[in-house]
Amino acid sequence: MFSESPSKLRKYLIMAAVCVPLAFATAWWLQPGPQATTSGLTNVYFLPAETYMAGEVDFLRDESGNARIDSILLPELPQQNVATSDFLSAGYLGAQTCAECHQEYFDSFVKTSHFKTSAEPSDQSILGAFDDAHRVLTTVSENLRFEMLDGDGEFWQRLLYDDGQQTHGVEFQFGLVTGSGKVGQTYLYWQESLLYQMHVSYLSVTDSWTNSPGYRDGTADFARPIPALCLDCHATYFEEVAGNINQFQRDNYVLGVTCEKCHGPGREHVAYHRDHPQEMTAHGIVNPAELPTERAIEVCQVCHGGTPVAMLQPAFSFRPGDRLDHFFTFSENMQATGVHSNSQLPRLRQSKCFQQSPDMTCTTCHAPHEFERGDLQLFSQRCQNCHDLPDCGKFGELGNTIADNCIDCHMPSRELEDIKISSQGADHAPLMRDHFIKVWPSTTAH
Ligand code: HEC
Ligand code: HEC
Ligand code: HEC
Ligand code: HEC
Ligand code: HEC
Ligand code: HEC
Ligand code: HEC
Repeated sequence: MFSESPSKLRKYLIMAAVCVPLAFATAWWLQPGPQATTSGLTNVYFLPAETYMAGEVDFLRDESGNARIDSILLPELPQQNVATSDFLSAGYLGAQTCAECHQEYFDSFVKTSHFKTSAEPSDQSILGAFDDAHRVLTTVSENLRFEMLDGDGEFWQRLLYDDGQQTHGVEFQFGLVTGSGKVGQTYLYWQESLLYQMHVSYLSVTDSWTNSPGYRDGTADFARPIPALCLDCHATYFEEVAGNINQFQRDNYVLGVTCEKCHGPGREHVAYHRDHPQEMTAHGIVNPAELPTERAIEVCQVCHGGTPVAMLQPAFSFRPGDRLDHFFTFSENMQATGVHSNSQLPRLRQSKCFQQSPDMTCTTCHAPHEFERGDLQLFSQRCQNCHDLPDCGKFGELGNTIADNCIDCHMPSRELEDIKISSQGADHAPLMRDHFIKVWPSTTAH
């Protein structure tokens, strides 16, 4: 199923090839280097997006089932690959426009993880370090390593492969940053208007570059296409181009999960209120607080509802207030973890708090425009809107001390198996809160 194609390989390698991989001056490496020979490189696989997505080939293992260390995976580019447009037809304006009349919301909202969950690459947005001491990611293979390079406001990942005679270098320019960096960040790169994931991600707990989640240490994988669903959860709006699963109107999108993701496109609202500055009743915008409970929950469920098992409509077509079951079908398996274990809603649904509180939504505990992470005292106060301290069976023993932290006992953090990150032999699994609120046997001993 996979093809080896020296002519295509040359297309990549021509971008930069290096025989002496050490000590680059930043001004130097951006110049096109001498063209690499492809001789000796038998381990490059060009994968069409569909093949990669379907997982049809277990290209990481050889016939005997052993890991194919040193494999280099690159995308096989389709024929059609040009798309431009000057405007977003769906009526999105971006959070900056909302600031014109809602400055206070904007000022607090820009501190949230939602706002920061996707961004253009910059010194600020990329959390990994580019200085000499930190720019290199080595792998379990002594032949293969990655270098992170910056200069003139551009940022690159270079894979370096040593075939025994010479070192081959292939470079990819950072195109988009995903993740605010709570757990980590993953980076995307463009080939014209096609979007792919970069091999090297960033892991916050170690403050270092790492193999992307699920990637095998000792391979170089730049072939993973980015489907629209990924951006639908990590951005406000992208316009898809029909034909390829990872093709978008480049240079024209709204990054971050911002105002209009939860309130709907703002064009009509903004036009109306600019024309009617005296009008104090909102027009043409959705306030989730005024939706029926189920619809209000769905505004969050679209990204926090676990794994969508079927998409009934194209990505980016759901609008707040719509019935979500016309757009997605979610897994019935309530134990299932979701896309990076974002199964907050299916877990919460199992809790008595939720089942016996008809009005409970995500915003019963979460203020959508504030950054409140880690403030367990504040969250515990929200529990006490419904519970008195003596309701807790531990009150007799621990007294008022329980008031400041209901969370660690009733919503323990748990390791996520589905975003294991393998780097230099060690595995990291991030911790996340379980939204199944109950008496956990593991915490009764506290
Ligand atoms: C030209 C001024 C203006 C701009 C720009 C503007 N709004 Fe508003 N917005 C208003 C006014 C006026 C109201 C009604 C008074 C209020 O609730 O503050 C309102 C109310 C709202 C409400 C509450 C709706 C309700 O039914 O209670 C939301 C939500 C909202 N705006 C979101 C947005 C978003 C999102 C943007 C950016 C796309 C935006 N606004 C841009 C003027 C504006
Ligand atoms: C378009 C997808 C999307 C929607 C809609 C959405 N979220 Fe999120 N949410 C995310 C993503 C992605 C993250 C992770 C952001 C990051 O750290 O990069 C996140 C993170 C969070 C966090 C963790 C914040 C932190 O810093 O620890 C909370 C809490 C949260 N969302 C609650 C909500 C609530 C409540 C709603 C509905 C009102 C909602 N989300 C709607 C995608 C979404
Ligand atoms: C169904 C929605 C959904 C899809 C699809 C999705 N994500 Fe996420 N992603 C989330 C949510 C929600 C979180 C936050 C999890 C949490 O904090 O509980 C998250 C977390 C992350 C993080 C870590 C953020 C941080 O600050 O630590 C990264 C990086 C990320 N996603 C990248 C991606 C990429 C790349 C894709 C596509 C290939 C993708 N995600 C697909 C919803 C989604
Ligand atoms: C993650 C989803 C989400 C994002 C992003 C978001 N909001 Fe909201 N917003 C809500 C929800 C939910 C409510 C209803 C409040 C509640 O349920 O307590 C709301 C309420 C509002 C209201 C009405 C407040 C009221 O008193 O009724 C305004 C105005 C508003 N948002 C503006 C904004 C602006 C401006 C931005 C961007 C700077 C923004 N929102 C981003 C989810 C969001
Ligand atoms: C909107 C109201 C509401 C909020 C907010 C709320 N709960 Fe509850 N909770 C309930 C109701 C109703 C029940 C079921 C009756 C009961 O056991 O008191 C319940 C049950 C429980 C139970 C017993 C569960 C079981 O399986 O026996 C625990 C533990 C609990 N809540 C803890 C919490 C914690 C911790 C928080 C904050 C993170 C919280 N609750 C927030 C309404 C709420
Ligand atoms: C009863 C209160 C409560 C309700 C309701 C609730 N959450 Fe949470 N949530 C919490 C607490 C407490 C945390 C831990 C906050 C922290 O450590 O910063 C949390 C954390 C999160 C996180 C970050 C996950 C992590 O551990 O990194 C996300 C995402 C999130 N909630 C989304 C949601 C969504 C979506 C809903 C609605 C389906 C929801 N929550 C409903 C209390 C609640
Ligand atoms: C040190 C851990 C711990 C802390 C802190 C704690 N709880 Fe509990 N909670 C428990 C345990 C253990 C039980 C079960 C006790 C039993 O069955 O005797 C329990 C029981 C409960 C129940 C269920 C009572 C019942 O029988 O239905 C509720 C409701 C509850 N806690 C709410 C809270 C709230 C609200 C807070 C924060 C103000 C809190 N808890 C803080 C450990 C804790």
